Amino acid sequence: MERTFIMIKPDGVQRGLTGEIIKRLEQKGFNLIGMKMMSVSRELAEKHYDVHRDKPFFGNLVEFIISAPVVAMVWEGEGVVASARKIIGATNPLSAEPGTIRGDYGISIGRNLIHGSDAVETAQREISLWFEETELSSWEAALKTWIY
Ligand code: PPS
Repeated sequence: MERTFIMIKPDGVQRGLTGEIIKRLEQKGFNLIGMKMMSVSRELAEKHYDVHRDKPFFGNLVEFIISAPVVAMVWEGEGVVASARKIIGATNPLSAEPGTIRGDYGISIGRNLIHGSDAVETAQREISLWFEETELSSWEAALKTWIY
């Protein structure tokens, strides 16, 4: 089953959007299989955003992510990587469609509330960076016995 990594950034946490974000992904039908609130180390933030190391925003982005707790999550479901990106909306909240998380709640690109993996391979890399396999739960039994 496909998995994606979602992080509610410090601004999303501080604005009280954690429940709303979880609600949107749950109601779509995806399964939450791992979640933790955590303060991020500089090392982890730099590794996570490593492909953007040469971009002008890299330093500010890392400082922001380590400035206050985030909620790190793993979600599972068919097509979850691309679908979660649609639910999140465009990187710049001013360009994001209404109805998306960033379109409904954001204004600034530097405070765009949430991160979602951009591809299946990226998701695998990010999940293994942020979570131990033992921190992830299986929905297999539940899906067989009480949903279907
Ligand atoms: S790029 O240049 O197209 O590869 O970058 P992009 O995919 O748009 O964004 C990569 C991540 O950097 C964040 N970002 C920024 N943060 C702070 N300030 C500025 N100006 C800025 N521009 C881009 C963007 O939100 C992406 O992070 P995530 O965590 O994936 O949202």
